[in-house]
Amino acid sequence: MKVMITGASGLLGSALLRVALQSDVIAVAAYNSHPLNGGLQMDITKQAQVNATVSRVAPDYVIHTAAFTDVDACETEPQRAWDINALGTKNVAEACEEHGARLIYVSTDYVFDGEEGPYSEEAPTRPINVYGESKLAGERFTLDSSVNAIARVCVLYGPNKPNFVTWVINSLRSHTPINVVTDQYNTPTYVGNCARALLRMCELGLTGVYHVSGREQLNRYAFACAIADVFALDKKLINEISTDTLQQQARRPMNSSLRVEKAERALGVRLANVHEGLTLLRDEWR
Ligand SMILES: NC(=O)c1ccc[n+]([C@@H]2O[C@H](COP(=O)([O-])OP(=O)(O)OC[C@H]3O[C@@H](n4cnc5c(N)ncnc54)[C@H](OP(=O)(O)O)[C@@H]3O)[C@@H](O)[C@H]2O)c1
Repeated sequence: MKVMITGASGLLGSALLRVALQSDVIAVAAYNSHPLNGGLQMDITKQAQVNATVSRVAPDYVIHTAAFTDVDACETEPQRAWDINALGTKNVAEACEEHGARLIYVSTDYVFDGEEGPYSEEAPTRPINVYGESKLAGERFTLDSSVNAIARVCVLYGPNKPNFVTWVINSLRSHTPINVVTDQYNTPTYVGNCARALLRMCELGLTGVYHVSGREQLNRYAFACAIADVFALDKKLINEISTDTLQQQARRPMNSSLRVEKAERALGVRLANVHEGLTLLRDEWR
């Protein structure tokens, strides 16, 4: 099976490449501004370039992780969010359809308003920020073809790129106090597990919407404390705050946790809880 990975220079894309290398999958990496050895440069906002690249690679699957992921910057640059997350996805979906590839689009818990989490795949979507709106538009373009699938993920963490977990670890290691919110709940997702699940979705030919996150919901402060426990760091440096003190550009859903039962049944795996995911990260990071 040949799988093309968009956003291969990103947090999830780089994990996908690593996991694919340990399997029988032939992975082709696509990046935009951060070149990768052996990868292909492809700006998903350029329709002709996307079409030509997918034609040349002729993948069985495209796993589309590329996105404008800075949630606050999406508020101040809504056109850019729309161009990359919505129209960029349309370009990828149309190229897949034209060249006989199936698409797995990586989407987000931020398609929900966070008022009634945890959410199943059937729950109504109602984004409350530009990022969520633009990603939801990407979902709709993806589902224009019935052979495609959506994998919603939530608070990704892994070893290679800066993320919430690396921030907590690096801060606590350098004895820097940090402030973490107690009122935002979600289901953090270890990228290694997520990458394996996405490749399994390809093998099984799954279509439709799946929640491929961690299986355990908790608030950010509790997550930061779990990180301190697993990495043997001082959790007294973690201060509790609430979201309204942060004054962020974009509104955040308060509980955008995802229910993963459907994905677990379809994939035949139990997805990791917080302790398991963090332990895998710790072992991988050595
Ligand atoms: N991170 C999270 O906590 C989280 C939570 C929920 C959902 N998600 C979703 O999960 C997916 C992966 O997120 P991530 O955190 O791994 O992303 P990331 O680390 O921010 O990486 C984003 C990737 O998108 C690529 N990209 C950006 N603009 C592009 C363009 N115009 N053309 C082609 N590629 C472009 C970047 O390429 P270059 O760096 O080479 O420019 C980079 O590889 C995204 O779809 C995101 O919406 C993430």
